[in-house]
Amino acid sequence: MAAVDLGANKLLALLDSLETGVALLDEQGLFRYANGSIGAICGGTTGPFVGRPAADALPAPRGEIDWKHAARNAIHRGRSVRLTRFAVEGSVLDCALAPIRLGDETLALLTVADVSEAVRLEERLLRQARTQAIANLGDSVAHEIRNPLNSIHMNVQLLREGLHAGSLDRERLDRTAATVQREIKRLDGVVRDFVQFSRPPALRLDRGSVNHVVRAALDALDAQIREKNLRLRTDLQSARPVNMDRDRIQRAIYNVLLNAVQVVPAKGEITCRSRDEEMHCILEISDNGPGLDPAKSKNIFNLFYTTKPGGTGLGLPIANRIVEEHGGRMAVASAPGEGATFAFFLPYEGPPPEREQGPTTVPAAKGERQP
Ligand SMILES: Nc1ncnc2c1ncn2[C@@H]1O[C@H](COP(=O)(O)OP(=O)(O)OP(=O)(O)O)[C@@H](O)[C@H]1O
Ligand SMILES: [Mg+2]
Repeated sequence: MAAVDLGANKLLALLDSLETGVALLDEQGLFRYANGSIGAICGGTTGPFVGRPAADALPAPRGEIDWKHAARNAIHRGRSVRLTRFAVEGSVLDCALAPIRLGDETLALLTVADVSEAVRLEERLLRQARTQAIANLGDSVAHEIRNPLNSIHMNVQLLREGLHAGSLDRERLDRTAATVQREIKRLDGVVRDFVQFSRPPALRLDRGSVNHVVRAALDALDAQIREKNLRLRTDLQSARPVNMDRDRIQRAIYNVLLNAVQVVPAKGEITCRSRDEEMHCILEISDNGPGLDPAKSKNIFNLFYTTKPGGTGLGLPIANRIVEEHGGRMAVASAPGEGATFAFFLPYEGPPPEREQGPTTVPAAKGERQP
C-alpha cells in the first residue's frame, strides 16, 4: 500500500485537525506558526498568531513563566520545558517546549493539551475516596464505641434490677461498678486511638499473661453472659508471658467472644482454652452456635462482611488486624451446625520487624487443630 504523499498543504491540514495545540516559537518567544487548535485551547484567543508573543495566547496567571526565556532555552541550550497543570481562563493545560530543527533554523516546538476534564475526574475520584474513607472511619468509631456502651448499659440495668428487687449485695455492687469503670476506661482508650487514627499509635508492649487478658474480656461481657444464661468453661493452661499490647489484644478477644455470645442460643456454651506451644501461645474460643459453612468462613475476616441486621462487619477484621500487628495470626475451624472455634496464635516475642500473612480459614471438623 502506498504511503500518503503529505505535501505542505496536506501537512498543514493535518496539523490543523489535531486536538492538541501545536505551534512554533522563535527565540523572541513570538509565534512563527500556530495550528487551528491553539486559539480554542488557549482560552479562545483569536488569531492570526504569527508575529505575536506566546504570552498573548498563554498568559501565565502569576507571570511565573517567561516564554521568551523558555523558547531561548529550548533553541540555544536544547533544553525541553514541561509545564503541567498550567491554568488559562478556567482550563488546565499541559504544555511542552522542545527544540526542533527546520532547514537551517532552530525553533521551539510548543505543544498544548487541554487536560481539564482529566483533572476534574481525578478531583472527583479523590473526593469520593475521601468521603468513603470518612464513612468507613465513622463505622469503625461507631463499632468500637458501641461495644463498651452496650456493656455499661447492661451492667447499669442489672444494678437497677438488683436495687428494685432488693437483691443487690455489696460484693456484686462492687464487681459491677468495677466492670462499668473498666468499660469507661476502654471507651476512653478507643476515642484516643481514633483521634490518632491517621497516625496509628505504636503498640504499648509489655510482657503479660494471655489468661489475664481473657479473664478481663470475659468480665466485660459478664452481663451479657448472665442474661443469656450461658455456660462458660475456661481451661487456661498457658504459663509463658507474651509480649503484647494488652488493651488491644483484649479488644481482639472481646470481639470474638462477643460474636460467640451473640450466636449461641440461650443456655449455650462458650469455652476458652489457652496453651503454650514452641513459638506461640494459642488461645481457642469455641461456641456451640450455628457454625459456619465454607462459603461464609471465607468472608468473615473481610471488612464490613456481616450477616447480622445491626452488625457492621468490623469485629473480626479489627481482631485480625490487632493479632497481625503482634506478628500473630488467627484461624477458624467450623462446620455448619457444629459451632465454631476461633484460634489466636500469639508469638511470645511479639511483633517481628515484618508482618506475617493474613488469616487462614480452614473449614474443618469442629475441634480439628490449626497448624
Ligand atoms: N462464632 C461465630 N459463629 C458463627 N458465625 C460467626 C461467628 N463469629 C462471626 N460469625 C460470622 O462472621 C460475621 C462477621 O463477624 P464480625 O464480628 O466481623 O461482624 P459482626 O459481628 O457481623 O458485626 P460487628 O462485630 O461489627 O457488630 C458475622 O456477621 C457472622 O456471620
Ligand atoms: Mg462481631
